Amino acid sequence: MTSLKKNRHWIKWVLLTVAVIAVFLLGMVLSTIIERRAESNIAQQDGKPNPRIYETHDATEDTSFASKHGGAVERDYLEENPDLVILWAGYSFSKDYKQGRGHFYAVSDIRSTLRTDAATVGTCWTCKSTSVPRMMKTMGNSRFYSLKWIALGSKLTGTIDCLDCHDIRYSELKVTRPALVEAFEQQGKEINDFSYQEMRSLVCAQCHSEYYFKGEKDYLVFPWQNGFSVDEVADYYDSIDFSDWTHKLSRAPMLKAQHPDYELFQAGVHADRGLSCSDCHMPYRSEGAIKFTDHKIQSPLNNIVNTCLVCHPETEEKLRQNVYERQDKIAQLKKLAEATLVKAHIEAKSAWDNRAAEDEMEAVLNLIRQAQWRWDWVGSANGVGIHAPLESARVLATAIQKAGEARNLLAVILTRQGKKLPVQMPDISTKEKAQKYIGLDMEKLKKDKTDFLKDKAAKWDIKPKKSIPPKPVKKEQK
Ligand code: HEC
Ligand code: HEC
Ligand code: HEC
Ligand code: HEC
Repeated sequence: MTSLKKNRHWIKWVLLTVAVIAVFLLGMVLSTIIERRAESNIAQQDGKPNPRIYETHDATEDTSFASKHGGAVERDYLEENPDLVILWAGYSFSKDYKQGRGHFYAVSDIRSTLRTDAATVGTCWTCKSTSVPRMMKTMGNSRFYSLKWIALGSKLTGTIDCLDCHDIRYSELKVTRPALVEAFEQQGKEINDFSYQEMRSLVCAQCHSEYYFKGEKDYLVFPWQNGFSVDEVADYYDSIDFSDWTHKLSRAPMLKAQHPDYELFQAGVHADRGLSCSDCHMPYRSEGAIKFTDHKIQSPLNNIVNTCLVCHPETEEKLRQNVYERQDKIAQLKKLAEATLVKAHIEAKSAWDNRAAEDEMEAVLNLIRQAQWRWDWVGSANGVGIHAPLESARVLATAIQKAGEARNLLAVILTRQGKKLPVQMPDISTKEKAQKYIGLDMEKLKKDKTDFLKDKAAKWDIKPKKSIPPKPVKKEQK
C-alpha cells in the first residue's frame, strides 16, 4: 500500500516534467513558426509596416542602373581588368569576380559563381540570407559555421530580408549577426550602447566589413582588435600569422581583403560629421502625407535628390561630377598599384625558377603581401574609394611604394642570378589569356560547376520571394 502511494507520487512528478517539456517545445515550435512567417515576408502587424517599404525593398531586383564605376548592372571585373587574375593566382577570385548587385540576388549570385563548390564552407551563408539568425539560434553559431555550404543551403528560405536588420515586429533596428557583437566586445564595447544613428550603420556593418574564418571550424571573426585602419588590421593578421592563400606565382603568403566598407567609411569626412550608411543608401522619402524609409538599397547616384541634396545645396550634376572626379583619381592610383604588383609577382616567379633561396626571398614576399593587402583594401571596398577618398589615395600610395620596394629587391636577386632585366612579361591582355597563364582550365571548371548545380543537394530554392504587402488597416467604427 505505501509502496503504491510512493509510486503515484513518482508518476505525478513524471507527468509534471513531461508537461513542462511539452509546453517548452510548443513554445519553441511557435516561435519558429512566427519567425518563418516573418521570413516569408507576410506582415502580421495590423497593416503595418507601410506597403511602400515592401515595394522599395523588392526593387533591389532592379539591375538597370549603371554609374561610371558602379551601379547594379552585371560587370565582369576580370574581363575589364585581366591583371586581377594574376594578382589572385591560386585563389578562387581568379576564376570569377563580378560587381555586386542588389540584396535581392544575394543567394542566387553566390550559388552561381564559379568560386563556390562542394568544398565551400557554410560560413559563407552568414551574409546572404534572412534565415541565418533563426538557424544560428536553433543550432548555435559555432555549429552553423562548421557545416558545409551545401548542407546549409537547403535550409534557407530566402535572400537578405527584413529580419537581417530588424526585430520581429520591425519596430527597431537589430544586429542579428554575432560576429559584429563579438568584435565590439573585443574592443570593450557593448552593442546595446550604440546610438540610434550609429545603428543605422551597424546593421550594414554586419555584412559590409572585413572578416576571416578562424580555425578548423571556420568561425567568423572581424579582425578589429587593434582598430579599423588598413595598417591596424594588417598588424593583427601578422600577429596571428594568418594568410588566406599562398600565391601561385610569387609564393607570397597572401591576404584577401573582403569589402571593408564600414572600416573605410570611418576614415572619411561624412563619418566624421556623423552620417550613417542609411543617410545615403536608405534615405527618407515623402509621398503626400506619408514619410517612410526608402528600402531600395542602391547606389545613391540613382537617387541624388533624396540623398546628397538633402544636405548639399549644389545641383544634381555637380554632385555626380564630384563623385566621378574622386573615383577617377582613385581608379588611376589603383591601376598603378596593379601594374606594379603584377610585375612583382612575375619577377618573383622568375627568381624562384632560377633557384632563389628562401631567406633572400623572405623580405620580398612580405613586401608583396603588405602591398597587395593595401591595394585590395581599397579595391574590394565598394564605391571606388568614394567613402573616404583621401584615405584611399594614401593607402594606394603605400601599396605602390611597397610593391616598388619588392621589385628593387628582386632586381638585386635577379642580377645576382645573372638574369637579364627586364624580365619578359607574358601576354595577359585578356581574361582568358591570363587564366591560361596561371594554369586554370576554365572549360573544366565551368563543366564541373554545371554538374554541381544539377546535383540534388544543390537544388535549394533560390528564387527570392516577392514580398506580400500587408492589407490596409480597417478603421474601427465607434
Ligand atoms: C555620403 C553618402 C554615403 C554614405 C554615408 C555611404 N555611402 Fe556608400 N556610396 C556612396 C556613393 C556616392 C557611392 C558610389 C556609387 C556609384 O559609384 O554608383 C557608394 C557606393 C556604395 C556601394 C556600392 C554600390 C554600387 O552600386 O556600386 C556600397 C555597397 C556602399 N556604398 C555601402 C555603404 C556602406 C556599408 C556605408 C556605411 C558604412 C556607406 N556606403 C555609406 C555614398 C555614401
Ligand atoms: C539592410 C537592412 C534593412 C532591411 C533588410 C530592412 N530594413 Fe527596414 N529599416 C532599415 C533602416 C536602416 C531603417 C531606418 C531606420 C530609421 O532611420 O529610423 C529602416 C526602417 C524601417 C521601418 C520604420 C519606418 C520607416 O519607414 O522608417 C520599418 C517599419 C521597416 N524598416 C520595415 C522593414 C520591412 C518590413 C523590411 C522587409 C521587407 C525591412 N524593413 C528590411 C534597415 C533595413
Ligand atoms: C545580411 C548581409 C547584408 C546586410 C545586413 C547588408 N548588406 Fe548590402 N549587400 C550584401 C550582399 C551579399 C550584397 C551583394 C549581393 C549580390 O551581389 O548578389 C550587398 C549589396 C549591397 C549594395 C549594392 C547594390 C547595388 O545595386 O549595387 C549596396 C549599396 C548595399 N549592399 C548597401 C547596404 C547597406 C547600406 C546596408 C545597411 C542598411 C546593407 N547593405 C546591409 C549583404 C548585406
Ligand atoms: C546628412 C548630410 C549629408 C548628406 C546626405 C551628404 N553629405 Fe556630403 N557632406 C556633408 C558634410 C557635413 C560634409 C563636410 C563638409 C562640411 O562640413 O561642409 C560633406 C562633404 C562632402 C564633400 C567634400 C568632402 C570630400 O569628400 O571631398 C563631398 C564631395 C560631398 N560631401 C559629396 C556628397 C555626395 C555626392 C552625397 C550624396 C551621395 C553627399 N555628400 C551626401 C553632409 C552630407
